[in-house]
Amino acid sequence: YLLTLVPSSFDIVGDIAILEKLEPELIPYKKEIAEAIMKVHTNVKTVLLKTGKVEGIFRIPNYELIGGIENYKTIHKEYGIKLKVDLSKAYYSPRLATEHNRVALQVKDGEIVIDMFAGVGPFSIMIAQRVKAKIYAIDINPNAVELIKENIRINKLKGEIIPLCGDVRNFSNILMNIANRVIMNLPGEAISYLDCAMKFLKKEGGIVHLYAFSKEEDFEKFNNDLSLKLSSLTEYYKILNFKEVRPVAPREWQIVIDFFAKPIQ
Ligand SMILES: C[S@@+](CC[C@H](N)C(=O)[O-])C[C@H]1O[C@@H](n2cnc3c(N)ncnc32)[C@H](O)[C@@H]1O
Repeated sequence: YLLTLVPSSFDIVGDIAILEKLEPELIPYKKEIAEAIMKVHTNVKTVLLKTGKVEGIFRIPNYELIGGIENYKTIHKEYGIKLKVDLSKAYYSPRLATEHNRVALQVKDGEIVIDMFAGVGPFSIMIAQRVKAKIYAIDINPNAVELIKENIRINKLKGEIIPLCGDVRNFSNILMNIANRVIMNLPGEAISYLDCAMKFLKKEGGIVHLYAFSKEEDFEKFNNDLSLKLSSLTEYYKILNFKEVRPVAPREWQIVIDFFAKPIQ
């Protein structure tokens, strides 16, 4: 009986299970649901329910403890890397693992990469684990940057990661024209930071991985707006890839656009 109540979609991060939401009729049974999850997934020690939207500049959700012990720190594994996370202090979602891997597979030895909204560092760590690249991992949340530093320590890395704490906009005036590749993983606002990405890129151009949210019916409008923006910021650009990353609501997606851009000098 309990098992039939377990929502089919929840995330597991290390030894913590996270429920995105619970149908109103299931709320009275939240404790039983948490128990059932821990029974099926014996390594899970904590069950959290997301409450409210991901808000604020640090993008940290609110959680309600619905079962197990109260704990937000854990070590999560994705594609051969270890990530120390603290769900109460810095953004992390296991749903981006495929993207971390997809982007990391494209990076070559010797590249300079700027991870503009690094969080606890999954893109940076996955790249540095595989290739001899130099990666600047930037985040405005000091707790996220502390976790990046720990993640550098606990993984065996070929590449070099330079963790930087602060508003990425400020760094774009310091680290100018150095990057072969820029990762923009702040899907709510990335478009408004495109000018920074162009400052980071080498004069001869480079690759940008841009994450965004869009309703399905707005995909075309999104592409048109992006093209307009890129026309004003670049000498040349070419869209290489447009794809859905994960659904965020009915007919609404997190999307990724990979493009080559040669910034205006
Ligand atoms: C979606 S999360 C990044 C997740 C991470 N890339 C991952 O894959 O797990 C966005 C991050 O951007 C950071 N952020 C927001 N505004 C920023 C800014 N102006 N400069 C630097 N970092 C910023 C937030 O603190 C947050 O950690």
